[in-house]
Amino acid sequence: MSETVAFPQDRTCPYHPPTAYEPLRAGRPLSRVTLFDGRSVWVVTGHAEARALLSDPRLSSDRLNSDFPAPTERFKGLTGRRTALLGVDDPEHNTQRRMLIPSFTLKRTAALRPAIQQTVDRLIDEMTATGSQAELVGAFALPVPSMVICALLGVPYEDHEFFEGQSRRLLRGPGVADVEEARRQLDGYLTDLIARKRAAPGDGLLDELIARRLETGETDVEELVALAVILLVAGHETTANMISLGTFTLLRHPGQLAELRADPSLISEAVEELMRFLSIADGMLRVATEDIEVGGVTIGPGDGVIFSTSVINRDEAVFDQPDDLDWHRPARHHLAFGFGIHQCLGQNLARAEMEIALGTLFRRLPGLRLAADPDRIPFKPGDTIQGMIELPVAW
Ligand code: HEM
Repeated sequence: MSETVAFPQDRTCPYHPPTAYEPLRAGRPLSRVTLFDGRSVWVVTGHAEARALLSDPRLSSDRLNSDFPAPTERFKGLTGRRTALLGVDDPEHNTQRRMLIPSFTLKRTAALRPAIQQTVDRLIDEMTATGSQAELVGAFALPVPSMVICALLGVPYEDHEFFEGQSRRLLRGPGVADVEEARRQLDGYLTDLIARKRAAPGDGLLDELIARRLETGETDVEELVALAVILLVAGHETTANMISLGTFTLLRHPGQLAELRADPSLISEAVEELMRFLSIADGMLRVATEDIEVGGVTIGPGDGVIFSTSVINRDEAVFDQPDDLDWHRPARHHLAFGFGIHQCLGQNLARAEMEIALGTLFRRLPGLRLAADPDRIPFKPGDTIQGMIELPVAW
């Protein structure tokens, strides 16, 4: 029975859901799973039920709620404290989101494409100038989104080692103390940066928010720092993982890669299908505040609810042959960017970055290949955002 499944678990193959989640597929649309501390929570695995529940105001994102589920011991370092956007419900959530929406529209994001292309080209120039091998996470997958989010926010890229290190600790640090310290460090860094910008304004999104929202009293420094932390962390960690894992997956699917190379206009379909197939943010978290009847069960107040996107996005009722990577399927209604009020704010930007990064990489390096045994290349454990830890390549 699915009741015995522990959640989360490591993937066996970096681009497939953990084989240990098979009983969850069989138990669609909802099952009970057991967390590290023995707590039993719901895991949602049916696509239709996930959409309904992610739009349901009776499920809360409030991380201050003492019943909010913690999928790992260290996640407790992220609950019980204020987290902007992702960690709040409407109406507070809506007020915060409205401040940011104008900066993430399709139009604003499209205007960033030439700068993203330049960044991608420069990084590939640097890689090819130094030889015919590289570790792609450090040389490309991480710097692309990191440089882009820095330019967008007005954060100095010279500080990237600091904030990338703290983000890693925030998402993967071994213990609660690491997570709390990383959060303190990021808060301190952005508080200082905002103070410096107030004294000497620049032209990034943070500067715009200071001028239009902070100086007008619409927000305060604490809230602006919380927003800046989430934008900075969500803005580089996730996309970096999609670029590294997307590259690995393409290199392991030569037929699909050949098709994409022959017809580069398939890139946006390919990115959408990779989003579905890889489902790197596998485990969105909520807590129920009232009884909710769904999929033949009743979720009760205080119950933890987790959405396993990797299983949801392979629901046979919605996607034919869901375990196949197929550029020709309609993949757009996957839930890899979430759904409902918290649906990814940065999705237009992430799509632009992935299309340009993957499209340019495979166009400019036609001989790109893995430079290590694929079974030995390390990838991230199941309790964090999925991606490659390292990716040795040659061309
Ligand atoms: C491919 C890369 C990305 C993936 C897979 C991804 C995934 C997600 C998911 C699944 C959610 C919803 C979480 C939930 O409902 O609990 C989310 C929310 C969010 N994402 Fe992304 N994201 C990506 C890129 C980005 C980028 C580039 C930014 C840039 C700023 C960003 C900013 C955000 C923010 C601010 C939220 C919270 C929105 C809210 O609560 O209203 N993300 N993302």
